[in-house]
Amino acid sequence: MHTRAASLLGTRYRELASNTIDYWMVSDDPSMTPEAAMAAFDAAPILPAATLSLYIHVPFCAQRCRFCAFSGGNSPDTKLAERYATLLVVQLHALMRRCPLNGHAIRAVNVGGGSPDLLGPRIATVLDAVRRLPGFSDATELAVEFTLSTVRPAFLDMLAMHGVTKVSFGVQSTDPAVRGHMRQPRTLDHLDRVMPWLDGRFPVVNADLMTGLPGQTLASVEEDLEHLMGHPGINAISSYLLTPGAAPSLLAATAAGKIPVAPDPLEQALMRLATIGGFRRARWVRRGTNTYVDPRRVTAAELERMAGNECIGASHYPAFLLGVGPQAVTSVPGARLENVVDVAQWCDLVEAGAQPIFAPKCSTTHQGDMALWTFPLRWEGLPAQRLAELRDSGACTPTQLATLGALEQEGLVHAKAGGYSLSLLGEVFMGHLVRDLKAEAGQRVLDDYIAEGRALGAAVARGQAPDGYRINNRQLAQLVVHDE
Ligand SMILES: C[S@@+](CC[C@H](N)C(=O)[O-])C[C@H]1O[C@@H](n2cnc3c(N)ncnc32)[C@H](O)[C@@H]1O
Ligand code: SF4
Repeated sequence: MHTRAASLLGTRYRELASNTIDYWMVSDDPSMTPEAAMAAFDAAPILPAATLSLYIHVPFCAQRCRFCAFSGGNSPDTKLAERYATLLVVQLHALMRRCPLNGHAIRAVNVGGGSPDLLGPRIATVLDAVRRLPGFSDATELAVEFTLSTVRPAFLDMLAMHGVTKVSFGVQSTDPAVRGHMRQPRTLDHLDRVMPWLDGRFPVVNADLMTGLPGQTLASVEEDLEHLMGHPGINAISSYLLTPGAAPSLLAATAAGKIPVAPDPLEQALMRLATIGGFRRARWVRRGTNTYVDPRRVTAAELERMAGNECIGASHYPAFLLGVGPQAVTSVPGARLENVVDVAQWCDLVEAGAQPIFAPKCSTTHQGDMALWTFPLRWEGLPAQRLAELRDSGACTPTQLATLGALEQEGLVHAKAGGYSLSLLGEVFMGHLVRDLKAEAGQRVLDDYIAEGRALGAAVARGQAPDGYRINNRQLAQLVVHDE
């Protein structure tokens, strides 16, 4: 049984946040149309400090990790791969043609999944197209994810040939028992096999770790860190706190007693503290939101190029993030476009020349306080200038500003001459800060998303919904949890 912690590490929080990351969620809008959403995209203003990044999603995967937040669209059926790679390029070109920032420098391109390696050598189709985009240059970060258990040497050769600057893969935990509970291969043999294939060809090699997984202990998390930070072939680590609301399958397995319960809140807080403290002690530096890099094992130019792990949201209000592929989200000033999750449906729509978006989850709202939505997430912090602009334009409410002040008083946020950044404790409780700094409507959307994930998990546990990839397709969630 969990005992309810009084106050974690002397903060206002009693448990870890249910979110570490922010998908730019908005409340569903049944009246939205694809035409209205696309018109808002076309009209997105180019503001000072505008940047352009791309996220390209590959929803094929042969694993069924219980925690996977991306599993809603994952398909093991790679027969589609050839057609899929071609259609990715079709949507990429269609979005770029309409994008007001087309032709401007591209900051970063992330190809993620799922398991992009399941495209095999067909990844070349995608990378060729990306490299030919106007705005792509040697300064652009080109990052590709793969899964250790399925990646093949020919895929990695293709990435090297196309000048990929960063590769990234999931490890999550090195503990065989935890891995087993998560339905991952129990051993790390795959890591040992794949490392030599990389052959020093990629400037940044990133491994993902998670904390808060059922069965994890503080000692096992410390071992994970020691193993990966000391690994000669790995120079970057992304560390995520489990978002349970994005993992209904895991919640259902816990409820059914198939796997252990999650670590208790204090243990979870100590896991984050050990992880982030470990990076800081070793002088690794943060990039993006949850990525830490060993600055002695990348060049200064490489560090400069690293945008971080951004499939999840634009860094600030003027930023353009174009999302290509099923489930991907486009975020530009004044428009949020969410592509349909279903792979076959997405393919049919793109092939027919239609917009492959799911209108009810799109928005044409100008989310003017975006910087505060993401500020605590990102390593750059909140520059004083940007905060002044937000304050002067009325983009953030007095309540939000008061919250920022209170967080500073409590030592969760540091104020320096140039602006605000997270303290060590602030990084530990990052997800809470994201929520606390949102305006009320934003908090409600986040809470609803987590509640929906929990309801989906409960429906699976009761046998009212099948345990499979589709349970995490949030475009279908209303059908499953209609009466909750
Ligand atoms: C979807 S994966 C893609 C990488 C690749 N498929 C792999 O797992 O090797 C990207 C990362 O997101 C993180 N992730 C997935 N589900 C999550 C969840 N529910 N909460 C927090 N992080 C999660 C994991 O660390 C994972 O490695
Ligand atoms: S975490 Fe990665 S390997 Fe596991 S199911 Fe999700 S996409 Fe596949």
